[in-house]
Amino acid sequence: MSERTAIEVQPETIAAAHGVASDTAFGAVVPPLYLSSTYRFPDFDTPGAYDYGRVGNPTRDMLGEAIARLEGGAGAVLTPSGMAAVDLLINRLPVGSAVLAPHDCYGGTMRLLKTRAALQQITLRLVDQSDLDAFKTTLWDHPALVLIETPSNPLMRVVDIAGLSALAKAAGARVAVDNTFLSPVLQQPLALGADYVLHSTTKFLNGHSDVISGAVIAADAGEARALKHWANVTGAIAAPFDSWLTLRGLRTLFARMAGQERNAMAIAERLSG
Ligand SMILES: Cc1ncc(COP(=O)(O)O)c(C=O)c1O
Repeated sequence: MSERTAIEVQPETIAAAHGVASDTAFGAVVPPLYLSSTYRFPDFDTPGAYDYGRVGNPTRDMLGEAIARLEGGAGAVLTPSGMAAVDLLINRLPVGSAVLAPHDCYGGTMRLLKTRAALQQITLRLVDQSDLDAFKTTLWDHPALVLIETPSNPLMRVVDIAGLSALAKAAGARVAVDNTFLSPVLQQPLALGADYVLHSTTKFLNGHSDVISGAVIAADAGEARALKHWANVTGAIAAPFDSWLTLRGLRTLFARMAGQERNAMAIAERLSG
């Protein structure tokens, strides 16, 4: 047996190096971009790892693996926008399910939830999640899903993910956290008890203002597979080129977040003075 002990891979290394130098065809250091919609079977009745791009795509899957590793999840689904990531979770619920969302969530999320509620696909309750005792009283009808967004956009309110998750799960709800604003660099909701993490990868994860895309990460492997299946059923899948750009953007996530924190602090100190 080898005497060598396993080296723990740091998140910075995952972001910078997941999939690097893994190309077996030509030894390309940068993971190739696979645009093909269809894949040749090695044999008449032997499918390969991929057959059709809506079902799976190597470039999209590589980005999903990297983001799932950073969030500490079992798997991730890449969607064509952040809104499609929120909707992937919502439209999987049985008709009439109760959804509990923050009263100050992102405007696009609010519009989506209110529209689905108006169509009677869900029942929606908007609550101030900053008070745990008050939040507990809103769980009386056992919501199917509790959506958390912290910090919220644009008011930057911060709520207690661990406290809310514990209460919601005790009431039988699943918990999804929109982690767009802090990214896994500064907050890992799955470690705090959430079942899912959502991202508008359009923002910090890609970081270059040239992609609209989203992600859902699941803590549970079965749920990750079910979400991937649902994305295939509905066609809510991210484009390969967007995934490739986002993986390239992810390489510098930790360095960018550090710079942005420094800038934000300098502005806050200046304004408070
Ligand atoms: C917190 C949050 N969630 C979701 C979204 C929606 O993401 P997208 O614009 O990629 O659809 C946004 C967009 O600004 C956001 O700020």
